Amino acid sequence: MSTPVIDAKDINLHLMSGKISLHILRDINLEVRAAEVIAIAGPSGSGKTSLLMVLAGLERAASGKVAVAGFNLNEMDEDQLAIFRRKSLGILFQNFHLVPSLTALENVSLALEIADTGLGYRQIREKATAALKEVELGDRLTHLPSALSGGEQQRVGLARAMVTKPRLLLADEPTGNLDQDTGALVIELMFNLARKQDTAVLLITHDRVLADKADRRLSMNRGRLQDEDDAEEKPVSQNQKAKDQTGKKQAANP
Ligand SMILES: Nc1ncnc2c1ncn2[C@@H]1O[C@H](COP(=O)(O)OP(=O)(O)O)[C@@H](O)[C@H]1O
Ligand SMILES: [Mg+2]
Repeated sequence: MSTPVIDAKDINLHLMSGKISLHILRDINLEVRAAEVIAIAGPSGSGKTSLLMVLAGLERAASGKVAVAGFNLNEMDEDQLAIFRRKSLGILFQNFHLVPSLTALENVSLALEIADTGLGYRQIREKATAALKEVELGDRLTHLPSALSGGEQQRVGLARAMVTKPRLLLADEPTGNLDQDTGALVIELMFNLARKQDTAVLLITHDRVLADKADRRLSMNRGRLQDEDDAEEKPVSQNQKAKDQTGKKQAANP
């Protein structure tokens, strides 16, 4: 079987808050395969964004192994991580993060330019145009972000994230600022593109309806990642720990 897109073992993350070290992620194990869509829910402050940061190589785990798209992030320096992000990752943010002075087409083209694909100007424009058509924005190429609705801006964000054909898409509450129907369209386009391009997706969302469309649902609770079925509003018990261990063994021997 092919190497998983995400292969994370026993990740722990500590962050400093003043002089105090906070234990943010606890013994996280996660394996995600190509084209697999995972939804992650969990209360605010539980560590969901922190997990994405570790998987993007933006935070370094204190212990554990983090391999993404075949790269062992633990062994890479900052320059290598930057190249890894441009070529192998797509990232979608809640607040879109488009460059305000660039048109939709230029925002998407920029992702291809910095991914250093060796493509010329015309090919880049063609690919960016095709990516915008895929998200049904073929008639908004020359619009600035300020002239687009929230849903349209997020679809430009999706085109930008997917135009480089990343192995992994990390989406941090991408529909958090959108109404239900608009968000549902963004997620539908996202899942369709991911399946078409064989991209694995890690989607953080509080929206039950959207999460139900994923292949697998996980829940973050106080820095621990659990299968949704195991996730309950109670402290981690010995019983739960035993279950976690069983889960690990199963994951190791699929
Ligand atoms: N840069 C940081 N420095 C210190 N603590 C942080 C930092 N970023 C996040 N935290 C803390 O880590 C915890 C998890 O945060 P986060 O991953 O953003 O949670 P979520 O995305 O689930 O809301 C929170 O307690 C938050 O206060
Ligand atoms: Mg968050």
